[in-house]
Amino acid sequence: MSPTSSTDATGSATPTLTVTDNRTGQTYELPIENGSIRAMDLRQIKVDEGDFGLLAYDPGFKNTANTRSTVTFIDGDEGILRYRGYPIEQLAESSNFLEVAYLLIHGELPDRDQYDAWDHEITHHTFIHENLKQFMDGFHHDAHPMGMLVSTVGALSTFYPEAKGLDDPDARHMQIIRLIAKFPTLAAFAYRHSIGMRYAYPDNDLSFSGNFLNMMWKTTELKYEPDPVLERAMDALLILHADHEQNCSTTTMRAIGSSDADPYSAAAGAAAALYGPKHGGANEAVLRMLNEIGSVDNVADAVKAAKNGEFRLMGFGHRVYKNYDPRAKVIQGLAHEVFEVTGKNPLLDIAVELEQIALEDEYFVERKLYPNVDFYSGIIYQAMGFPTSMFPVLFAMGRIPGWLAHWQENLLDDEQAIVRPRQLFVGEDERDYVGIEDR
Ligand code: CMC
Repeated sequence: MSPTSSTDATGSATPTLTVTDNRTGQTYELPIENGSIRAMDLRQIKVDEGDFGLLAYDPGFKNTANTRSTVTFIDGDEGILRYRGYPIEQLAESSNFLEVAYLLIHGELPDRDQYDAWDHEITHHTFIHENLKQFMDGFHHDAHPMGMLVSTVGALSTFYPEAKGLDDPDARHMQIIRLIAKFPTLAAFAYRHSIGMRYAYPDNDLSFSGNFLNMMWKTTELKYEPDPVLERAMDALLILHADHEQNCSTTTMRAIGSSDADPYSAAAGAAAALYGPKHGGANEAVLRMLNEIGSVDNVADAVKAAKNGEFRLMGFGHRVYKNYDPRAKVIQGLAHEVFEVTGKNPLLDIAVELEQIALEDEYFVERKLYPNVDFYSGIIYQAMGFPTSMFPVLFAMGRIPGWLAHWQENLLDDEQAIVRPRQLFVGEDERDYVGIEDR
C-alpha cells in the first residue's frame, strides 16, 4: 500500500492510498480524507464477483473513527484536551459546569442572556416525579447507587413519552435540560436511599453544584450552606469529566441513539457502560487498591506485582493518553485546596509514592502508562465525604452533557446510520441437529 495523490477536475490534489491486492494483482486507489480512508471503500476489493469484499477487523475499535465530531479534541501524545477548542485547564479554572454544559451542547460559550436562561431552565427542572421517588424506594436497602442511577435514568423515559420526538428541536432541548437537571437529584437520592436517609429536595437558591451538595448532605438545618471551596471543587470535577470524545459510554450513547431510541434510554445505556471498572468504575477501584496497599512501605511491592501481571494499577494507563492525563494534573491542584478544608486524605501519600515509583519504572515508561483522571479524583471525593460507591455516579453526573452533545451531533449528522458493525464469522459450518439422546 502506498500513499499518493490524484488531481481532480479543478486541478487540486486529493491525497489517495494505492492498495494492491496480492490475491488478484489488482490495484485500487482510495481517497484519503481527514487522515482516514473510508472503510466502505475497501468493499470494492474482491477476489471475484461473488466475494463480499474486504472488511476492516478492529476489535475494540482501536483504529476506527465512527464519526466526524466537533465536540472534543484530544491529543493523547501531547496530553491535550479541549472542549469545542477551549483548553480543559482554562475551563476548569475560569468557567463553571453549567456554562461548560452549554458550550458542549451548543458549540459556543453563552452570552449573559443565554447563560441566564440556561441556568434558569436547568435550575427549574431539578425535581423528579414523586412516582420516580417511590420507584427508588423499591430498591434493596444496600443497592449500589450506580445501579439505581442506571435504572432511574432509563425510567425517566416513561415519564416523558414526548422524548421520542427526535426531529423536534424543542423536544430535544427539553430532554437535554431535564437530563442535566435531574441527574444530580437522581444521584443524591440514590445515595440517601442507600444509607436509609430521607431525601433532601433541590434548593433553587443554590448553584448547580451547591444544590447537589445540599441534596447529598443536608440534615436538620433549615438551609444548607455549601462550603465555597468544596462547591467550587465539585464544579471543577464535573467540568473535568464533562466530555472525553468517543469513549466507551459516549460510543454507547451514540449507538443507542442511532436506533432513534429516546435520550433517557440512551443515557441509561451510557451510564451502564460507564459503570465498568475499566471506565467510570476505575476511581472506585483506585481507592480499593490504595486501601489494599495500606502503607507507603508496601508501594514498591505493589508496583512489582503490577509489572508481573498480578493486577493492574488502577488509575494508570489510558487508551488515548500516552502522556500525563491533563485532567489528572488539574485534580492534583484541586486536591490541595480541598484538603485545606477537609484535612488531608491519608491515602494521598500512598498515591504520590505509587505515582513516583511507577513514573520512573521502565515497565510503565515503555508502555507510556501515566496517571489518568481517576487516579486522584477518588482521593478528593473521599475527603469530601463521598463513599466509593458514589464515585462512578459523580463521573456520570459530569459526563451527561458530553453524552447529550454527542447524541445530538449523531442525530443531526446526515452521514450517520444505525450502528451495526460486521463480524468475521469463525464458527461451525452448517451441521444437522442431533437429538439430546444421541449426543
Ligand atoms: N497497570 C499495569 N499494566 C498496564 C496497565 C495498568 N493500569 N494498563 C495497561 N497496562 C499494560 C498492559 O498489560 C499491556 O502490557 P503488554 O503490552 O505487556 O501486554 C499494555 O500496558 C497496554 O495495555 P492495554 O490493555 O492493551 O491498553 P488499552 O488501551 O486496551 O487499555 C485501559 C487502557 C485504561 C483499559 C488500561 O490502561 C487499564 O486497564 N487501566 C486501569 C483502569 C483505569 O484506570 N481505567 C480508567 C481509564 S480513564 C477514565 C475513563 O476514561 O474511563
